[in-house]
This record gives sequence, C-alpha cells and structure tokens, in this order.
Amino acid sequence: MTASPQPDGVRTTVVTGAASGIGRALCELLDARGERVIDVDLHGASVVADLSTGQGVAAMAEEVARRTGGVVDAVAANAGTTATPELAVLVNYFGAVRTLDALRPLLTRSSAPRAVATASSAVFYDSDRALAEACLADDEVTALALAPPLGQMAYAASKRALARWVRRQAPTANWAGAGIALNAVGPGIVETPMMAPMIADPVASAGLAKSLPMPFGGYARAEHIAQVLAFFTAATTERITGQVLFVDGGAHCHHAGDDIW
Ligand SMILES: NC(=O)c1ccc[n+]([C@@H]2O[C@H](COP(=O)([O-])OP(=O)(O)OC[C@H]3O[C@@H](n4cnc5c(N)ncnc54)[C@H](O)[C@@H]3O)[C@@H](O)[C@H]2O)c1
Repeated sequence: MTASPQPDGVRTTVVTGAASGIGRALCELLDARGERVIDVDLHGASVVADLSTGQGVAAMAEEVARRTGGVVDAVAANAGTTATPELAVLVNYFGAVRTLDALRPLLTRSSAPRAVATASSAVFYDSDRALAEACLADDEVTALALAPPLGQMAYAASKRALARWVRRQAPTANWAGAGIALNAVGPGIVETPMMAPMIADPVASAGLAKSLPMPFGGYARAEHIAQVLAFFTAATTERITGQVLFVDGGAHCHHAGDDIW
C-alpha cells in the first residue's frame, strides 16, 4: 500500500446520499473538520449520479477518480430509499455494494483507508431471507422478482443483505488484506425527510414505537448518525472492521436481549 499522495494531507471522503438527511449532516461535519468531501446524489450534489444502476455507479466512480487523482481516503455508502420495493433493492443493496466495490481501488492508495455503509435497525425484523440471499448471490433478476410482494419488508431485507455483505467482505483479502476497514452503521428511526411522513402520521408512528422502541432519547437526528459514520471514516479509528454498530437508542437490546454471542 502506498501512502496517500495528497500534498496537503487533507483526507478525502466520498459521501453518497449527500443531498439530504444523514448524508448531508455527514458532509457538514467533515467539512467543519476541514476535510475534503465529494458529495454524490441524484440531484443537489457536486457529483450527480443514479446509483440504482451499474452504469450510474461506474460513471460516479470515474468522476470521483478524475476529481481525486485516483486516491480516496474514505467512502460512506449512505444513499438509500424506501420509494418502492424494487428501488430499495437496487439502491440500498446493489447501489451500496457496487459503490464500495467501484471505489475500493481508489481506497487502496490511501494510507488509512476506511469504508462504511448505512444499514438499518430494520435488519432486526424477520424479513425475507430469500431476497437477502438473492442479493448476496449477486442475483439482481431474482431479487427484483422477489421484492414487490414484500412491500416495505423489501427495505428491511435489502439492509439485512447489506449488513451481511459487510460482515462477509470485511475480513477478506480485498478489504482487511488491503488494509481497508469496512463497517456499517444501523440507525434506528431518524428524523429525516425519508421518515418524516411516517413520524407525522400518528398511526404509523405508534407502530414504529412498538416495533422499534428507542428508550434512550427517542428518535435520532441526522447529526447523531453522522457522528458515528465519521468515527468509522476517521484515520484514528483502528482495528475495527466487520462491525454493524446500531445507533438506535436501545432498540437492539429490546429485540435481541443479551444472547448475541
Ligand atoms: N431515516 C431513518 O430513520 C433511517 C433509518 C435507518 C437507515 N436509514 C438509512 O440512512 C440512509 C440515509 O437516509 P436518510 O434518512 O438521510 O434519507 P433521505 O431521504 O433524507 O436521504 C437519502 C438520500 O439518498 C439519495 N438517493 C436515493 N436514491 C438514490 C439513487 N438512486 N442514487 C443516488 N442517490 C440516491 C436521495 O436523493 C437522498 O438525498 C439511507 O441509506 C437510509 O436507508 C435511515
């Protein structure tokens, strides 16, 4: 691994889903710390890309390489959607995994490379295992066929697959072997545009409180999740890889208890 050739020593982090919510909060945090941020989104970002397609991801990676001279220190694969079951699969799993894979060669040229994905506490739900397995088998056709009847549970399955992909990939030669940390953050319910309609609806909100109780402080704000993503992108965070850290106000304790090891 070669040392980062960036002459000013400033770290460069790519953030996807950067125009809104958690991604925007992460960009603001890194910017305030004096770091260089490459913000990627469908719109309202300096790199505009549709990460729901392989071509969109490839074009994004090409543009990032052009802007950085081929060296990236950290990637936060954060773009996500609940818009439709198909888009949940395409963006939340395939888009995130393709983003991490496409930018991995640029990470190998950093002296302290870090990658993090935004998963979800929705991985706790007993979502469809066949869909998650189709994603992990890189079988987009089957995954897209399985998604529509699942409705919102396709979102949970896409995030479960993403979290499992992180666990499987982190210790491999491509990641740990190349010195690249690969982790995930699993937010509980966060007050962002994605969740605003559900939070505003009393019935949906009561359902959320029951299925994902957050006794420690209630709903999170985007800034809370950004702090933890920034922890995982930092050069000073060492020896942590393959972790899925839930930032969920205690919801995981409620679901899993202490019998997880
Ligand atoms: N808000 C929550 O409660 C919550 C909980 C758990 C996980 N998450 C995850 O956190 C991440 C950020 O979500 P948020 O809450 O900030 O939502 P948000 O809707 O505010 O932001 C998501 C961003 O992703 C972008 N995006 C969507 N599809 C894209 C595509 N095809 N190509 C490029 N960009 C695309 C959107 O344009 C948007 O800017 C997502 O992965 C989401 O699934 C959110």
